[in-house]
Amino acid sequence: MARKDLHEKPFDEGTITKLEIFENYAKEWIPTFVMGGYPELWIFDFFAGTGYDKKGVAGSPIRILQQIKNQASNILQKQTKINICFNESDKQKFGLLQQSCNKFINDNCELSRMSINLQFRNSDFADLFPQALLTIKKFPSLVYLDQNGMKFLADKYIDDLEKTSTTDFLYFLSSSYFVRFGKTDAFQTNMNIDIARARQNPYKYIHKSILEQLRERLPKSTKLSLYPFTIKKNANVYGIIFGATHPRAVDKFLKTAWDKNNVNGEANFDIDDDVEKSQPTLFEELKLPTKIDIFKQHIRKEILAGIVKTNKDAYDYTLKHGHIPSQATEEVTAMKKEKLIHYDGNWPLINYEQVYKNKRIINFQILAI
Ligand SMILES: C[S@@+](CC[C@H](N)C(=O)[O-])C[C@H]1O[C@@H](n2cnc3c(N)ncnc32)[C@H](O)[C@@H]1O
Repeated sequence: MARKDLHEKPFDEGTITKLEIFENYAKEWIPTFVMGGYPELWIFDFFAGTGYDKKGVAGSPIRILQQIKNQASNILQKQTKINICFNESDKQKFGLLQQSCNKFINDNCELSRMSINLQFRNSDFADLFPQALLTIKKFPSLVYLDQNGMKFLADKYIDDLEKTSTTDFLYFLSSSYFVRFGKTDAFQTNMNIDIARARQNPYKYIHKSILEQLRERLPKSTKLSLYPFTIKKNANVYGIIFGATHPRAVDKFLKTAWDKNNVNGEANFDIDDDVEKSQPTLFEELKLPTKIDIFKQHIRKEILAGIVKTNKDAYDYTLKHGHIPSQATEEVTAMKKEKLIHYDGNWPLINYEQVYKNKRIINFQILAI
């Protein structure tokens, strides 16, 4: 299958969006584990590319190094050992990757003061992954899988990642390839995805549809949560799949995604036509609700039905549905103002720190229905 090479020309807008999400997630992830006092962290970029595009725009490895540099004082203070594995299978690109990263480290003296173990690998991901998995299972790890196409989303890799407990991963996939090649044997033997079903929805939802099927295939007892971010480039649909088991990680990813798009938090375009829905109209009653409106209506209903009873329930519900705590907070405080519910204090405390760290649980008391 002929593929376009990302490094032959400057990164396009969609690629930059992907790289910014990768980088912004590292910006959240690194301090969380450093300040959490973990002695050793691992970052794997299994499809690292060359370091920069043709115009000198930084690719994922340089962005990772930049985020490590930005955390220099915390890393030095906590004496965290940062292990990095940059892998690239193409020999020529591998040479450029080493040059770019070594130069970046030499030019940024903060990096040479830290305890950094940087490993360059020139391997095929399929060969490297089984060895790397032993490390991934042992240490808090951030894993980037910025593949071409979608071959490495195969069941065997997802199954292995599902079993890890302190791993956050970001997959990139060309969902459009799936539409074109999904019926071929190569795809069918690697991935258990029903193409006809994925195609039932409009094409713009293809990435989301693939993710929904991946979610359904996880074991019933899984702790792994998966979230999509769709990236449209011209007529093609690509996307990121984020996976993690810890609510703090999910919270950070959703923050990253909603920062990127504050209308839907799940695409680099207006996937549900929410902008049009939120325009003022003469007939307000005919207005269609936006994604945020629908979420607020649902959480309100759950609270009034006595299903979401506490700030913890509200927090878990919010993350499960791909929303951010501030949206739930707005709705719950509005319900208190409307005298539908009561809770002690001024704020409903729907956030990770209060719910999971401080374990401050507050009850929502229903006043009227
Ligand atoms: C989408 S690009 C990654 C871009 C990179 N993250 C960046 O920011 O520049 C995918 C890269 O993976 C490399 N690649 C392709 N197949 C591979 C494999 N089986 N194992 C490792 N690397 C591979 C390609 O040469 C290409 O550089």
